[in-house]
Amino acid sequence: MSTIEFPSTPTWTGAEQDWAVETHGLTKSFGGNVAVNGVDLLVPRGCAFGYLGPNGAGKTTLIRVLLGLTHADAGTMSLLGYPVPHHWDLALARVGAIVDEPRFHDHLTGRQNLQVLAAAREPAARDRVGPSLERVGMLHRADDRVAKYSMGMRQRLGVAACLIGDPQLLILDEPMNGLDPAGMQDMRDMILGLVAEGRTVVLSSHLLDEVERTCDAVAIVDRGRVIRQGTISQLLAGSAFTVEVECSDPEGAAQRLASLPIGASCTVESSGLSIALPTGTGRDVVAEINRVLVDSGISVYRLQHVQASLESWFLEVTSRLGETS
Ligand SMILES: Nc1ncnc2c1ncn2[C@@H]1O[C@H](COP(=O)(O)OP(=O)(O)O)[C@@H](O)[C@H]1O
Ligand SMILES: [Mg+2]
Repeated sequence: MSTIEFPSTPTWTGAEQDWAVETHGLTKSFGGNVAVNGVDLLVPRGCAFGYLGPNGAGKTTLIRVLLGLTHADAGTMSLLGYPVPHHWDLALARVGAIVDEPRFHDHLTGRQNLQVLAAAREPAARDRVGPSLERVGMLHRADDRVAKYSMGMRQRLGVAACLIGDPQLLILDEPMNGLDPAGMQDMRDMILGLVAEGRTVVLSSHLLDEVERTCDAVAIVDRGRVIRQGTISQLLAGSAFTVEVECSDPEGAAQRLASLPIGASCTVESSGLSIALPTGTGRDVVAEINRVLVDSGISVYRLQHVQASLESWFLEVTSRLGETS
């Protein structure tokens, strides 16, 4: 994964910044229901960016607003540096998107569907039909009717349809939905391949694990609001973690550590001792644990820092929010 440095609390920086997607204060309500609530989003170019949140969090609505499928009530946005809605024509020419399920003419073949799409675009698009089908591994089924395609094949054809326009930015709404594990793996590889070509992929997902595995950076959205954003490593840097210890006396070690003011929560397991440490704990505490155990006459055979997964971090953040709301 590439490392991308950008502020965890984005500030409006104006046109000089070259983000793939930039929004400021984007808001969209349905009646009294605020589906997108003051969203400030900065998506660096050339990365896979996850818009992660539970069902109903406002992911699809944000994507629909970005694509001009529905109007924002407030806020500003730009795609690939072009302010929209003012420059939809320039921006959308370089954007490919799948919102909800990709829709096709079922009675036509995959290739014919792409030819229909290409006919509505610039002449070069026609030459991209074959390469796009090949790119998503669908060349061998290109001349079958779409009605016979599986969900995974429809998703691939959806990505091929995006590629007809040679997009710099792809926006995929829940691309893993309805896919089996092998299909998810294929989709992930496809996304990583597109990023390796220098494109930016924004995907929405409620699947934490998928975002963690696929994306370089992430925004976590809950009830229309972005509650955190940054690279995955930045987000995890401030999270709780666990230290696993193999030692000669796990029970004694647990007692000794309980007397230290580090907020350790120890669990004695068959393999040794698992020490959960709270958010904000520095790495020096790991060294201190080692020192205290050795000073207490306990032999330490292995000591391992286990980083929280994005999933446990996400649960930690959302449960904290629950306590304060
Ligand atoms: N066209 C619509 N009319 C009324 N409410 C809508 C409409 N689209 C979405 N919503 C509401 O907006 C909220 C966010 O929905 P959505 O963007 O689909 O979330 P997600 O994609 O994260 O599951 C939900 O409460 C949903 O019921
Ligand atoms: Mg949705």
